[in-house]
Amino acid sequence: MSDSPQVSSIATGTTTQSAAERFGVIERPTLEWTPQVAEETADLYEKVKDHIPKMEWPVYAPYVAAINRLKKERNAVILAHNYQTPEIYHCVADIVGDSLQLAKEATKVDAEIIIQCGVHFMAETSKLLNPHKTVLIPDMKAGCSLAESITGADVRLLRERYPGVPVVTYVNTSAEVKAETDICCTSSNAVQVVESFGVDKVLCIPDEYLAQNVAAQTKVKILTWKGHCEVHERFTAEELLAYKEADPEIEIVAHPECPREVVEIADYTGSTSGMINYVKDRKPPKVLLVTECSMASNISSEVPEVNFVKPCNLCPHMKRITLPKILDSLCEMKEEILVDPAIADRARLAVERMVNLKH
Ligand code: 13P
Ligand code: SF4
Repeated sequence: MSDSPQVSSIATGTTTQSAAERFGVIERPTLEWTPQVAEETADLYEKVKDHIPKMEWPVYAPYVAAINRLKKERNAVILAHNYQTPEIYHCVADIVGDSLQLAKEATKVDAEIIIQCGVHFMAETSKLLNPHKTVLIPDMKAGCSLAESITGADVRLLRERYPGVPVVTYVNTSAEVKAETDICCTSSNAVQVVESFGVDKVLCIPDEYLAQNVAAQTKVKILTWKGHCEVHERFTAEELLAYKEADPEIEIVAHPECPREVVEIADYTGSTSGMINYVKDRKPPKVLLVTECSMASNISSEVPEVNFVKPCNLCPHMKRITLPKILDSLCEMKEEILVDPAIADRARLAVERMVNLKH
């Protein structure tokens, strides 16, 4: 590991310059397992030791040490979603949370640079809320099947078909789609957002299952779209009932992107942070988190008395984010999130309306 990576150029920055030109590129530090790295990362290893074998830590630790050092040097903050891998969630993230928490935290960030460890729509939301900050995502291809399921033109057609019906879009959408809608929602506030209009019919798009799960909790008639999360749509009621039958003590905790019949047999349904809080508060002896499987790994060390039953469904998009790519982001200032100014103001309004909603 080199003592201090060298800034090879410092840019003053104009809007037309790339992030690399504005901030300069830093040479990638040498990644070595030294006594200093071992000491610097010893406390962090304690948090992930159940998931990363001791003999593998010398591969991870130099990245963790380099990222944490460069974050300070760059005045950068790392926002990480609850589905990130344990070494990101516990060892390099400054703020972790569900989509709503990350969006709210993004409004309070002091740092000049935000590195979003999550998927593209999350980074785009951070950029909308921080138009003058630099927002980077370690892999631009980290998408989302829900965000891909609908376009701005689709929303315009829905408005023509249902004139006057308010449009609520799940935050898992592109800025182009957000720009066409009245307000955003996340899995933790969808019912409240839908009811905030005080009308009897609302379009809640694009997640069909989330919309059905919201409809079960409100008198408002919900119209929706046929988008699905490729991770949550794979869970079935039969699979979960088989776990329950094998061990009736198991509690089932599900995300509302799951099909209705899955949510119907769950003991609790909520956003990723809602699910985490449920487990931390109730400490069920055995629990099955019906969601992306890194989440159980991330919280298991904080609730050692809970046994996690893990049917492993991974989100391939979330898993594109890795320590080497985060380090490259910090060194090379890539990949920068930019939002077309023609849509940014309208999209920001939809996100801000949600963030500012009183609870
Ligand atoms: P949360 O807002 O509950 O974190 O969900 C985001 C997501 O993408 C779940 O698949
Ligand atoms: Fe999108 Fe599903 Fe991945 Fe969440 S888990 S980012 S909804 S594909």
